[in-house]
Amino acid sequence: MKKSSVITADKQGLQEKPAFLTGKRIYLRPLEMTDLQTFYYWFNNPELRQYVQMPYPVSIEQEREFIDNAMKNTDPIVLAIVLKHADRLIGDIFMSPIDRVHRKASLGIAIGDTNSQSMGYGIEAMQLLIDYAFNTLNLHRLELSVYSFNVRAIKCYRKLGFKEEGRSREAFFGHGQYHDILQMGLLEGEWWRIKSR
Ligand SMILES: CC(C)(COP(=O)(O)OP(=O)(O)OC[C@H]1O[C@@H](n2cnc3c(N)ncnc32)[C@H](O)[C@@H]1OP(=O)(O)O)[C@@H](O)C(=O)NCCC(=O)NCCS
Repeated sequence: MKKSSVITADKQGLQEKPAFLTGKRIYLRPLEMTDLQTFYYWFNNPELRQYVQMPYPVSIEQEREFIDNAMKNTDPIVLAIVLKHADRLIGDIFMSPIDRVHRKASLGIAIGDTNSQSMGYGIEAMQLLIDYAFNTLNLHRLELSVYSFNVRAIKCYRKLGFKEEGRSREAFFGHGQYHDILQMGLLEGEWWRIKSR
C-alpha cells in the first residue's frame, strides 16, 4: 500500500487537535490561542453571561490572558469541549481551585455554542471531567455553585449525582432581581456507586 493512500482521522481533517479525554460524542482537549475569537464572542454574549459569573464586558486582552494562563498552569485545568463528528469547539469546562490537601476541587462548565445546548453534551463533558478528577487526580470531593434560576444546569448536576449542600439566599443579582445561589457537592464514593449501577 502506498503511504499516501493510508487514511487516518487526522488526514481527513476530522480531528486536528489532541484529545485529552474522549467520550462518545465529544472530546476534551487543552485550550489553544486559536480558540480566542470564539471565547471572546461567547463570554460577551448575554445569553451565556446570564448563567456564569461575568457581569462586565470581557476584552480580547482579558480573554487572551485567560487562555494563556490556562495553557501555562495546572490550576486552573481548562479544557475545550469539541464535537467529535464535526471537530467543532462548542464550549469549555474547568476545574479550579484544586485543593491537594483536602483533595477537592470546584468545577464549572459553559456550552458557549447556544445551538449545542440541551443536547446532552454538558452531561457527557462533566462525566469525563469527574472521572478524571477521581480516577487520575485522586480527588475526594467536587463542588460547584449554580444560580437558582438555572434549571437546566441544576438538572444536569443532579443527574450526575451532585447533592444540594447549601443555599446562599439572594446572593446574586441578575435580570433585575436577587436570586439564591445553590452549593452542590459530589463525593468520590457516591460517584463510584452511580457508575456501578
Ligand atoms: C448547563 C449546561 C452545562 C447543561 O448542559 P446541556 O448539554 O445544555 O444540558 P443537557 O442536554 O445535558 O441537559 C441537562 C438536563 O437539563 C434538561 N434541560 C435541557 N434543556 C433545558 C431547559 N431549557 N430547561 C430546563 N431543563 C432543560 C435536560 O432535559 C436534562 O435533564 P434530563 O436528562 O432529566 O431530561 C449547558 O446548558 C450550559 O453550558 N449552559 C450555559 C452556561 C451554564 O449554565 N453553565 C453552568 C453554570 S453553573
